[in-house]
Amino acid sequence: MSQNKRILFVCLGNICRSPAAHGVLEHLSEGTHEVESAGTSAYHAGEKADPRMRAAAKKRGIELHSISQGFQQSDFSYYDMIITMDDSNYNNILKLDPNAEYKNKVYKMVSFLSDKYADVLEIPDPYYGGDQGFEFVLDLLEDGCQNLMAKIKNGTV
Ligand code: 4NP
Repeated sequence: MSQNKRILFVCLGNICRSPAAHGVLEHLSEGTHEVESAGTSAYHAGEKADPRMRAAAKKRGIELHSISQGFQQSDFSYYDMIITMDDSNYNNILKLDPNAEYKNKVYKMVSFLSDKYADVLEIPDPYYGGDQGFEFVLDLLEDGCQNLMAKIKNGTV
């Protein structure tokens, strides 16, 4: 299996968590993988990532370039991995694939977290919270994306 993957991160609005994951993986993988992000809703279509998330990422040297878009049915065949941020995103994506044709491509982001985050069951939505929430999401995503890259490299995903 190729080590160069097409990876789509998915959250609800595609303005906070999945754009951050998109930026973190792009930054870490330096062009090795084709990375994109999308929302299960298109409420924010056309918008840049939330300014709070962009500012928090920038402090870590990561620029977020995403423009919000809704998940499309054609994404199932195009991407190798579709990685969801919370259980609601995960279930909503699986509902769009009633014959489970693409189920083996759909992952939960928490499945890539290190053991120190074993009590984290979802990537929490930081939209209505304070700055700490954005920092915590970035901590999780940096950890998970490192592990994701290692798994791709050693062929365990
Ligand atoms: P995201 O966060 O799913 O991480 O992009 C959200 C952004 C906006 C809304 C919900 C979640 N919203 O309801 O507008």
